[in-house]
Amino acid sequence: MDSWCSPRCRATRTVRPTNCPIYLWNESQASAVSSRTVEDPRLDGRPVKRIAFGGAQISERVRELGKQITEAYPEGELLVLGLLKGSFIFLSDLVREIRRPLQVDFLVASSYGDATVSSGSVRLVYDPETTLEGKHILLVEDIVDSGRTLSRLLDLLSERSPRSLEVCALLHKHVAEHLRYPTKFVGFDAPNEFLVGYGLDHAENFRHLPYIASLQ
Ligand code: IMP
Ligand code: MG
Repeated sequence: MDSWCSPRCRATRTVRPTNCPIYLWNESQASAVSSRTVEDPRLDGRPVKRIAFGGAQISERVRELGKQITEAYPEGELLVLGLLKGSFIFLSDLVREIRRPLQVDFLVASSYGDATVSSGSVRLVYDPETTLEGKHILLVEDIVDSGRTLSRLLDLLSERSPRSLEVCALLHKHVAEHLRYPTKFVGFDAPNEFLVGYGLDHAENFRHLPYIASLQ
């Protein structure tokens, strides 16, 4: 068993066509919890269905992703582009696990508002100031759901003549009908539920949870 797949891990390892190992979501192994059993003042009494991914499990997987990314870029300039706000914690942990020179910038796109269902509209609020031309661009996203946000952003970024353009998503729901680009690096295969924590929000709340929970 790999070092990052501890006996407590609630998901099964598999290998994608991209050779990016991920955890497949496994409903039967997930920890179903009642709101009474999660006593966390950060939740402010909000009931959660379960803890989908624990803090230690996330750290191990981020370490592994950092290693894969380091190996995937043996040379050239690498720009890690975080999609705010959802990727802020993931990106902070991830770049510290990438053992090669890199630059960091951010993009801000607004899509969901306060709802838990995609509205389909994507708006660029902040555009990166760094030059993209000739660089390896790694777009870091918290979660791929419908894929609308990513498709729109990748269209825009590919027009700026990067040397390469890839996506690293912490979570992937694999329900993306609108995704026209592959996601090269994926942390975890996610359940098709509304998830919060480790950067992911509901109406701007719960981003600071050190684990990922699914809301009731
Ligand atoms: P899309 O549907 O793939 O375009 O997702 C757009 C954005 O919606 C993601 O980058 C997230 O910020 C947010 N999002 C999608 N699914 C979830 C979720 O389960 N919890 C919290 N945010 C989500
Ligand atoms: Mg959000």
